[in-house]
Amino acid sequence: MIKVAPSILSADYVNLQKDIEKVDKGGAELLHIDIMDGMFVPSIAYGPGWVKEIRPITGLTLDCHLMIENPERYINTFADAGADIIGVHVESTPHIHRALQMIKDKNVKAEVVINPGTPVEMIKPVLYMVDQVLVMTVNPGFGGQKFIPETISKIKELNRLREENDSYSYDIEIDGGVNDQTVVGAYNAGANVAVAGSYVFDAKDPAARIQALKDATNF
Ligand code: DX5
Ligand code: ZN
Repeated sequence: MIKVAPSILSADYVNLQKDIEKVDKGGAELLHIDIMDGMFVPSIAYGPGWVKEIRPITGLTLDCHLMIENPERYINTFADAGADIIGVHVESTPHIHRALQMIKDKNVKAEVVINPGTPVEMIKPVLYMVDQVLVMTVNPGFGGQKFIPETISKIKELNRLREENDSYSYDIEIDGGVNDQTVVGAYNAGANVAVAGSYVFDAKDPAARIQALKDATNF
């Protein structure tokens, strides 16, 4: 069964606490927080102050996805704000190893992220040091986009590498266009954590949507 990380990018911003309570009670394991700088991606969203305010109101694992240029500038700030996982894009810095090491030095789980156009080859040198790999299943920047099925082969490759190397212990997360249909192929390929924004929060009953993702991968 897949673990679910609702993305607050699609939540009701003025009633955020209520929405977080709904997914917390609804069986989610993580809460996905998208950080966007208007440079690495066109949109702007959520600074460290949000993470700090959210931290005391939920026990969910705070999964912070940094879509910002040179993320190493802000890693300590997000760690101090209360992030449990910090994800950095390999495309966003020439110093991905340093960025991941900085996250680990703060005792936060380190995640490397790849865009749909980036091959697994780009992150092979850092796979030994990460707790999670995020395979973007849409181009980052916006909620509500369509799942790109060609990304599945990268999930399979990461799953194979994990099986072949005893020292690799990362979770494989997917993000973008996840619903009860698209989650199945990704789960079969080896993904074990799914981010879902619009599918969960655009519904009348977010808890039912979380359950639907779990039911679709319960075999
Ligand atoms: C996209 C973000 C996602 C977004 C997913 O850049 O990284 O986390 O919230 O939204 P959906 O699930 O609607 O595709
Ligand atoms: Zn995200």
